[in-house]
Amino acid sequence: MIKVEHLAFDYKDFKGREKPLLEDISFTIEEGERVVLLGVNGSGKSTLLKILDGLLFAKEGAYSYKEQLISKKSLKKITKTFRKELVFLMQDPNTLLFNATVYDEIAFGLIEFGFENVKERVEAIAQCFGLSEYLETPPFYLSGGEKQRVVLAALLVIEPEVILMDEPSANLDPLTTGWLIDLLNEMHITTIVSTHNLSLATEFGNRALILSDTHRLIYDGDITTAFEDIELMKQAKLIHKHKHKHANETHSHYHLHDWC
Ligand SMILES: Nc1ncnc2c1ncn2[C@@H]1O[C@H](COP(=O)(O)OP(=O)(O)O)[C@@H](O)[C@H]1O
Ligand SMILES: [Mg+2]
Repeated sequence: MIKVEHLAFDYKDFKGREKPLLEDISFTIEEGERVVLLGVNGSGKSTLLKILDGLLFAKEGAYSYKEQLISKKSLKKITKTFRKELVFLMQDPNTLLFNATVYDEIAFGLIEFGFENVKERVEAIAQCFGLSEYLETPPFYLSGGEKQRVVLAALLVIEPEVILMDEPSANLDPLTTGWLIDLLNEMHITTIVSTHNLSLATEFGNRALILSDTHRLIYDGDITTAFEDIELMKQAKLIHKHKHKHANETHSHYHLHDWC
């Protein structure tokens, strides 16, 4: 469904120097897979998700969606189908909220893509997402977690085939995070989730893609196997060592930390 071949992406820093952000990345994702994208801050996770969403385009290599090469030019021709089938929950929900009310926000995609029974569909998903009482409220008034739920409702109501999520639990409290995980488990759509929360990572999927701080894909495989591989986790800088004091004895060992 998704095929990335030898992808590379650079950006120019403020002095105009080219800085690599993704180097020689290749992987394929089949329909229905649940993939977790891991890597320290700055490794390139958000950039990779933006490329998969057709917001940025690689300098080298190729990205195909359903065997259609995604480039600036080709995307123009297939924008509507692509945007209907593949949606992106960005890290900051404010980026995606632009309508006057929660109702309009959720209805927007339904109208854009020509769905029937818009009102019924909005009300049904609002009920399911605990948003019924906010339908007439401007999204601007909501908390970060509520905004996140509005954006998610607006994306899922159009019944996409793939959802990309950039650190979706960052704005959510534990209860809402649990709700999101249950929802994703029930949905059976292809998901690619980036997270820095290692204790939640295994809940979001069973396959891990790990980016190193040198912007290369250093692992593609079972997520539990990755977490058991201390050398790999050290290379990914997803674990660190610090000192402990047990009774009178001080020792140090590696830890997986949520804040990496
Ligand atoms: N156009 C740009 N100009 C300046 N810095 C950029 C640009 N694009 C990306 N960066 C830098 O690259 C870093 C890594 O990108 P990002 O994909 O956000 O990594 P991650 O999501 O893994 O933290 C960013 O933190 C930012 O500092
Ligand atoms: Mg990021």
